[in-house]
Amino acid sequence: MANVQFQKITKSFGALTVLDELNLEIEKGEFIVLLGPSGCGKSTLLNILAGLIEQSSGRITIGDQDVTDLDPADRNLAMVFQSYALYPTKSVRGNLKFGLMSKGLSNDEIDRRISSVANLLQIDKLLDRKPAQLSGGQRQRVAIGRALVKEVDVCLFDEPLSNLDAKLRTEMRMEIKNLHNRLRNTVVYVTHDQVEAMTMATRIAVMNRGVIEQIGTPDEIYGNPQSLFVAEFVGSPSMNFIDVSVAQQGSELVGVGDQLSQAIDLRRAGLEQAPSGLSRLRVGIRPEHVRVGQNEGDRERSIRVDLPIRYHEKIGAEALAFFDFGGKRLSARVPPERVTMLAKEQTVPVDLPLEHMKFFNPETGRRV
Ligand SMILES: Nc1ncnc2c1ncn2[C@@H]1O[C@H](COP(=O)(O)OP(=O)(O)OP(=O)(O)O)[C@@H](O)[C@H]1O
Ligand SMILES: [Mg+2]
Repeated sequence: MANVQFQKITKSFGALTVLDELNLEIEKGEFIVLLGPSGCGKSTLLNILAGLIEQSSGRITIGDQDVTDLDPADRNLAMVFQSYALYPTKSVRGNLKFGLMSKGLSNDEIDRRISSVANLLQIDKLLDRKPAQLSGGQRQRVAIGRALVKEVDVCLFDEPLSNLDAKLRTEMRMEIKNLHNRLRNTVVYVTHDQVEAMTMATRIAVMNRGVIEQIGTPDEIYGNPQSLFVAEFVGSPSMNFIDVSVAQQGSELVGVGDQLSQAIDLRRAGLEQAPSGLSRLRVGIRPEHVRVGQNEGDRERSIRVDLPIRYHEKIGAEALAFFDFGGKRLSARVPPERVTMLAKEQTVPVDLPLEHMKFFNPETGRRV
């Protein structure tokens, strides 16, 4: 049975529907990331699970208990906020202790928990300091520690790393992941940072306008996006898109595009059956699958286009080339040692391999 279950959760603020009959099942021990753009309803959903916001309709169960009408304190979960929300006048020890006061634990048990969590998070030398005497990363660790001392089954995180600088964020990301590997508690983690989602999640739920567009492992979300929204939101730079019309060429169904010198053989591209009545398709291809500046394009397996290069970026070991594709931008990942040379050319042969093309219905936005 799922450890956490959302059933048809709807939340409206006046006329604004923020969550729309959302369903989600989370297994015990999973690290679920709720990923989506600002305003899509991530924090609202997390706060509803915590009991801090009341849903307009729908039910929530944790384990085999229906918690829909329970107070936050009775839901047996812990939450880490973006703002840390530490008490400035209390020491680290005092902050860790505070959440345990109401639980009727013995002093020995409180001390045991604090010292165990402080060791785990390597803040044992900081227990007598005040939050103002800590670095950002240390404060973040205390905030996580305050959730862990409660020893609950379900931990909620709302963008806990967004106040940290890039390097610290990377470190804390690994720490949180390692912690989860050791503790195997259930984690629901909210972020709009796809790198956090891709690196930490056992499954990612991609949210858009109050619904879950797709839920799957990071590989499934990246490699097999089920909608244009997911394809575009996950991946940097974003997937490239080309619009084509569907036509019959002899016995084959093909995709024909203004900018394409050659039609896309849809069956060869893995689309066994074009959906009936669909006259247009949006073709998606990731930047790392676009092949640039090779002498011989394999005409059977890829579509060749000659494109003007607009600019390039070299970011250490990575390089990107951006082309003008009929007024739209097409990006390609290229070997860094070649990008400067390529950039001197005006027009470069670019191959789009059929095997890596994904097809979407431009009207519904769904994968076909
Ligand atoms: N108390 C409220 N009254 C009215 N609208 C609200 C209220 N709280 C949230 N909203 C609206 O609900 C929508 C979802 O908000 P929410 O905080 O869940 O977004 P989010 O996905 O967490 O975004 P972010 O990434 O920016 O934190 C937003 O459009 C927001 O303006
Ligand atoms: Mg939020």
